[in-house]
Amino acid sequence: MNPIRVGVVGVGRGKSMIEYCLAAGDAQLVAICDKWEEGLRRQQEKHPEAQIAYYTDFEAFLQHDMDAVVLANYANEHAPLAIRAMRAGKHVFSEVLPVQNLKEAVELIEAVEETGMIHCYGENYCYMPAPKAMKKLYREGRVGEIEYAECEYVHNCEPSWPHLTRGNPNHWRNLMCSTYYCTHSLGPIIHATGLRPVSVVGFEGTKMERNLRVGAKGGQFGVEMVTLKNGALVKSLHTFLYKNSIWYCLYGDKGRMESGREDTQCGDIDCLYVNADAYAGEYGKRPPERLEPKDEDVDTAKKFGHGGSDYYCMHNFIEKLRGNPDADTIDVYEAMDMALPGLMAYRSILSGNVPVEVPDLRDPAVRDRYRGDAYCTTNPDAGEYLLPTCSRGTPDIPAGVYAAVKQKWLDELHEKKS
Ligand SMILES: NC(=O)c1ccc[n+]([C@@H]2O[C@H](COP(=O)([O-])OP(=O)(O)OC[C@H]3O[C@@H](n4cnc5c(N)ncnc54)[C@H](O)[C@@H]3O)[C@@H](O)[C@H]2O)c1
Repeated sequence: MNPIRVGVVGVGRGKSMIEYCLAAGDAQLVAICDKWEEGLRRQQEKHPEAQIAYYTDFEAFLQHDMDAVVLANYANEHAPLAIRAMRAGKHVFSEVLPVQNLKEAVELIEAVEETGMIHCYGENYCYMPAPKAMKKLYREGRVGEIEYAECEYVHNCEPSWPHLTRGNPNHWRNLMCSTYYCTHSLGPIIHATGLRPVSVVGFEGTKMERNLRVGAKGGQFGVEMVTLKNGALVKSLHTFLYKNSIWYCLYGDKGRMESGREDTQCGDIDCLYVNADAYAGEYGKRPPERLEPKDEDVDTAKKFGHGGSDYYCMHNFIEKLRGNPDADTIDVYEAMDMALPGLMAYRSILSGNVPVEVPDLRDPAVRDRYRGDAYCTTNPDAGEYLLPTCSRGTPDIPAGVYAAVKQKWLDELHEKKS
């Protein structure tokens, strides 16, 4: 079978998918697009022998003969590019997040339905060893039906902020609200259980000096209390607390499973602790099991980022395009189940932490209620739909903060070159 021909947009995070296509035998990298010319040139220098076309313009890139497009551009601009790509006959792998507002969510879903192209959401944290095993065990009924879960993606990005935002006051990372980037935490619980979120209450960290000093205007961290369709409750915590944490814990009606906590140095996300009875009501006293989930691809996967999850995520996308019915991918509806709780949680925060419905956009009648709903914090041109970046209002950050961040980025770039 011929390899799937892939084009990648965005040479930052996109490097991971570029490496996948160059290393794995099932995909062929045919084009790279980035409007940042220097970044593009660096990729060209890195792969002089490969047959790759380079583009600075997305529309020109779309004309290239290829099967699929990986979108690793700005996190708030995926939907318009995904829609353009699908309408041009390309399948799409979209980085996080899938949409920046409800209007885009409706448009994206309808573009998938109208074109019949595959849209695959690249929530790689679902494919880390512990969450991947959680899904398998949950579906086998090992801990029973979910009653409660907690999930954390805490990443203190302050040291990398210059490289990530390049001192641009309107970079999506500087404009996003506290609950926007929620799918690394919530995603794996949704993917494991297959249950839809129905409502959410949001909270945000309003002590935000560490954000302000690097130019980030959103709350320091976000919390969503999400109710799932079966009544279970999930606490999702994410972003810029000081110490990093990737952790998932799921209570069912006959047991519990959780990944290792980083600080305990007991296997971290590579490890899953399962404490479950054979049947509800057994009240057994068996010690918890410690699993180190592995599969036949583990050695290959290890060479890729984020605990091997970058490999599985792309591999399943390619398998899906090849027609493998067992490919474990995240479709556009599930992508919304992961992302909309963050958007709706922010509305909850702005309304004083009241419960807010998470719409089910599978239903065309529900879509009609959100078709024109462009509220967001990440598009400075949103006009009447522009929301403040945090509950206390959009902070005024002096231009000097961004100038200093930019200088730091340029210094780092220069250091790397020399
Ligand atoms: N899944 C993960 O673990 C993970 C990790 C890091 C980043 N990300 C995601 O990857 C994406 C990219 O993040 P990043 O850290 O690389 O930084 P970024 O968002 O600053 O960079 C995106 C790159 O895309 C380019 N770009 C933007 N719009 C373009 C357009 N219309 N045409 C051509 N090029 C365009 C920019 O020049 C830049 O080089 C984001 O969606 C982010 O959420 C995911």
